[in-house]
Amino acid sequence: MPKPWKKLIVALDITSEKRAKQIISALAVKKPKFKIGLIAYTSFGPKIIDWVKTKGGSIFLDFKLYDIPNTMVETAKAFVDLGVWAFTVHVKAGEESLKILKKEITAYSRKQKKPRPLIIGVTELTSRKTSLKSVLSLAKIAKKSKIDGVVSSVWEAKKIAKDFKLLTITPGIRKKKTNDDQKRVATVKDALREGSSFFVVGRPIINEKNCLFAAEELLK
Ligand code: C5P
Repeated sequence: MPKPWKKLIVALDITSEKRAKQIISALAVKKPKFKIGLIAYTSFGPKIIDWVKTKGGSIFLDFKLYDIPNTMVETAKAFVDLGVWAFTVHVKAGEESLKILKKEITAYSRKQKKPRPLIIGVTELTSRKTSLKSVLSLAKIAKKSKIDGVVSSVWEAKKIAKDFKLLTITPGIRKKKTNDDQKRVATVKDALREGSSFFVVGRPIINEKNCLFAAEELLK
């Protein structure tokens, strides 16, 4: 299997059940991971997780938790029960909160005899122009908190991996420069060269009628 597919996370930012099922079925053969965020989860509830799992897919739950430790821990326990591969939390929640989250989720997963989901900290949103310094200072907090990785743009991924040995998940992937809400964008080629552990693609794939063809073109 070509390497880019192994690194692809498809953002299922979709509200139509028919379309969501179509996209999952069309892409699942290539075994990308699927990102479920507030759009899909609010539209379908936990059924969306079953649809992905039935097709053998892994789930990246992107709710970007940002709350007091107890609320984050209890929410993340439900993620463990749902059997997700990874989930997101804002690094800005702070080192102390993230440490508690990691400790509690590790203990809970062990108790439930379930794999512990990866905890991925969002640094700065890719829809914002920001400095490398700002992203790196958040990545440093992620490292000190001992979570597994961070969300950043492609342009910070290499430095984060080198300095902090964290996984990097990079959204803002575009074929070429576009005029949408994403500001810190990059191509798949950039993501591979800069060493992103995984890259997230939503609209460039899900908005295309033939999403498998669109994905293949993007990854070429
Ligand atoms: O459609 P597009 O390719 O821009 O989708 C990117 C996905 O990644 C969206 O679901 C968005 O919420 C998510 N994301 C992001 N930037 C972050 C964190 C998550 O774009 N920093």
